[in-house]
Amino acid sequence: MKTHSLAVVPGDGIGPEVTEGALMALDAVADAEGFALEVTNYDLGANRYLRTGQVLTDDDLQRLSEHQAVLLGAVGDPRVPPGILEKGLLLRLRRELDLYVNLRPSRLLSGVNSVLSNADQLDVVIVRENTEGLYCGRGEVTDPGSSKEQATEVSLNTWPAVSRIVRYGYELAAKRKQSLTLVHKTNVLERAGSLYLRAISEIGGEFPGVQTAYQHIDAAALLMVTQPKRFRVVVTDNLFGDILSDLAAGLVGGIGFVGSANVHPGRVSMFEPVHGSAPDIAGTGLANPVGAILSAAMMLRHVGEEKGATRLERAVEAVAGKIAPDQLSTREASELIAEAAS
Ligand code: IPM
Ligand code: MN
Repeated sequence: MKTHSLAVVPGDGIGPEVTEGALMALDAVADAEGFALEVTNYDLGANRYLRTGQVLTDDDLQRLSEHQAVLLGAVGDPRVPPGILEKGLLLRLRRELDLYVNLRPSRLLSGVNSVLSNADQLDVVIVRENTEGLYCGRGEVTDPGSSKEQATEVSLNTWPAVSRIVRYGYELAAKRKQSLTLVHKTNVLERAGSLYLRAISEIGGEFPGVQTAYQHIDAAALLMVTQPKRFRVVVTDNLFGDILSDLAAGLVGGIGFVGSANVHPGRVSMFEPVHGSAPDIAGTGLANPVGAILSAAMMLRHVGEEKGATRLERAVEAVAGKIAPDQLSTREASELIAEAAS
């Protein structure tokens, strides 16, 4: 039997609950499709940090990189100062494993309520640059605590990173037979913007079948609400992708309904729901497992289990309407999906 080696990082807050749901659904798919998952658990996150002072060691990184995929629940805890886990674990994993594509699909599932009456037209995949931009970690503070204090955050944009994310976007748009929209702010951030525009014109030329559009980030936020069907494949930088993917999630029923993939094609990649650790509802059973389960489906596609991925997505679609907030517990919703996937 084909066996895939999977690292599981349940993490903080609701992470362990939704991860348990994802593993339940994965088990059902593996049984139905006849493959096996060899799961190794990794204790990373707030508890480990508070116990040992360690966030992510070189040894952790080495061990994680030996799996085919990493399934992550959520990271972040009010007991730990902001940034330590987010930057030290999540952003570091994305960077060190060179997971340069952050793939974030948002599609309204049938039966799920949206704040928009026209949101049924929203079926977008955000292709977020995942290693650079304002999240590169560079910057400085001068004269801290004084009346002259200055804080600088550097946005790094290199041709290798920009061109590979734009190429990934075009390949995806060609495969989906859809248009590609570049989202940026080229009228103000003209240095980084011109790098993206150059990539669009040079690489876009290789994809004559893909229509290209451009929107500034502010206009994109407006249009995604007023004319959602304009957006199919969106390529954008790290910060804009972070924001726009939450907006898109809000339009398809909420952050609990969307999954994501941090991908380096052909290499170990990491899959996580778009939501955070939601410490306020941890342990209550209120967490929606759909985001984690859709991330697990993306993981299956990454390891070559295309049929299993589709099976899991169909199972989610079949029952999503019953997973309205407050109706089912995390476990009940996960069981329902697992059953539909069997
Ligand atoms: C996300 C999160 C992270 C990000 C944070 C926690 C660093 O908001 O996955 O979208 O900004 O990428
Ligand atoms: Mn985010």
